[in-house]
Formats: sequence, C-alpha cells, structure tokens
Amino acid sequence: MTSGNSSENDVPSPRSIDESERETIEIELLLEGIHRLYGYDFRNYALPSLRRRIWHSVHAENVNTISGLLEKVMHDRDCFERLVYNLSIPVTEMFRDPELFRTFRQKVIPILRTYPYIRIWHAGCSTGEEVYSMAIMLHEEGLYEKSRIYATDMNDRSLAQAKEGIFNIQRMQLYTKNYLESGGTRSFSEYYTAKYNSVLFHPFLRKNMIFAEHNLATDRSFNEFNVIFCRNVMIYFNNTLRNRVHELFYESLSCFGVLVLGSKESIQFTAFADSYEPLDTTEKIYRKIK
Ligand SMILES: C[S@@+](CC[C@H](N)C(=O)[O-])C[C@H]1O[C@@H](n2cnc3c(N)ncnc32)[C@H](O)[C@@H]1O
Repeated sequence: MTSGNSSENDVPSPRSIDESERETIEIELLLEGIHRLYGYDFRNYALPSLRRRIWHSVHAENVNTISGLLEKVMHDRDCFERLVYNLSIPVTEMFRDPELFRTFRQKVIPILRTYPYIRIWHAGCSTGEEVYSMAIMLHEEGLYEKSRIYATDMNDRSLAQAKEGIFNIQRMQLYTKNYLESGGTRSFSEYYTAKYNSVLFHPFLRKNMIFAEHNLATDRSFNEFNVIFCRNVMIYFNNTLRNRVHELFYESLSCFGVLVLGSKESIQFTAFADSYEPLDTTEKIYRKIK
C-alpha cells in the first residue's frame, strides 16, 4: 500500500450538489488522464471503492485535491505507480475461503483427473498466495505434473512478489489454519523454509507456474483453460466492465471449463448467466455448458 495513514474518515462528504459535481468531474479527468498517458483503464471501476482509494492517494501524496493528484500523476511516473498499487487493492491470503478449496477438491479435482493436461488461469492473482495454494492442492492430488498455472495481474509490483514466493512469516499461522480447513492433510511447513521474518515456498511449486502482466479491462484472451479463478477482482468493477470480463472468460474456457468467483460475486445478472451451470452455488463454482 502507499504510505500515509488516511482512513475512511478522511474521505470528504460533498456538502453540496456543486461540490459533488466537481468531485465527479475531477475523478473523470484523473481516470481519463491515466488512461491516455499510461494506458491503464480504471474508467469502469465501481465508484464507491474507487473514490475511497483516490482520496487515500490524495492524502498519501500530500496534495489537497483530486486535481492536485492528477497534476502529480501526470508529471511523476512514480506517483502514478503508487496510485496503481493503491487502486489495485492487493489484499489476499493462502487458501482464502478454505471451504471453497475443500469443495474444489471434492467436486472439481475428480473432473480434472480425467484430463490428459490441465490449464488453470488465476486472473487478478495479486501477490500469488492463491496460486501457491492451487499448486499445493494439485501436488497433493497428484495432478501438478500435468498442470500449467497461468497467474496474471495488472499490477507488476504484486507479480514480482508472486514470482519470488516469499511471504511474511506472521501470516503462516492463518495460512496453516486455512490449509487444514481446506482439506490439507500434511504438515503445512513442509512446503516452505523460514528465514528471519519471511518464508520461501519450495521452488518445485513454481515449476509449472507462468506469471504475466494482463489487464482485464484492456487485454484479450491468450489461451484456452480448463479452469479460471477470478476471485475478489470483479467486485471492484461496474456492470460494463464485469460483462467485458465475463465475455473474455467465456471465450477463454474450454467446453465444460470451470469458473470460480469470489464469495461476494456471482454469474447471475451477467450477460453469460445462461452459459453456465452451478457446480456449487454457495462456493461460486460454475461450469460452462454452452
Ligand atoms: C483483492 S485482490 C484479489 C486477489 C486474489 N484473487 C484473492 O482473491 O485473494 C484484487 C487483485 O485484482 C487485480 N486487478 C484489479 N483490476 C485488474 C485488472 N483490470 N486486470 C487485472 N488484474 C486486476 C489487482 O491488482 C489485485 O491484485
């Protein structure tokens, strides 16, 4: 995250219609400027969280207004990169929502077992915790050798961290608990080596991972996949962008391919709702049927 201690309380409530209108124009100009100068398109992100993140950056960059942030971003690439990092909300954890991973083991792994070769795409993988969780699960199920895991994100700082496979040791207590709740049966510490305040996950887990920058708002499909994970990413998008991404996923999934969304996300009310059947409605696991 960017530096600065601003909190939700620092997001001003516009006092009049004029102020609210001014803020809307400033946000639109900021997003337009970023898009035209740097090619990153945040114009279809959901406004409430975008607004909060922008104000967070206003405070962290020591400027007074969104227009002030626009000026700094236009003239200072480092400022732009800090803003992208802040807007990307790179919050994640290993075996996040353990019940999802447990259900995946029970309902999807048996399907994958029948395939000669497995391609999985983690779109919006952040710093990689979800990707290492998948590698561990596939390894335990004897499927890792015939799998390729494609891990993408628009945020290159997060991807660089993901490639290293180094995580904070203080997170291991939670991750071990998640792992066990997800159906893991080994000692979780088998998978990493601790050094000072960090742990390094064993390189064999990285063997079949491919990391790449990919922006869901602007980039196209790049392969055909048996499984796509995209969790806690589209929650930050508006309906226009959500539909774009669902089209991308639909085109990228093989016949009977599996789509996994986050706990607060759903295929319902999207243009592709009828193209999938639920494999598990509670855990947001869907299978492409037409
Ligand atoms: C909250 S994290 C979710 C990480 C992981 N999927 C999980 O559920 O734990 C959201 C991630 O989506 C990425 N993201 C946001 N907008 C994106 C876009 N347009 N294209 C690709 N990744 C995006 C962010 O950079 C961030 O790493």
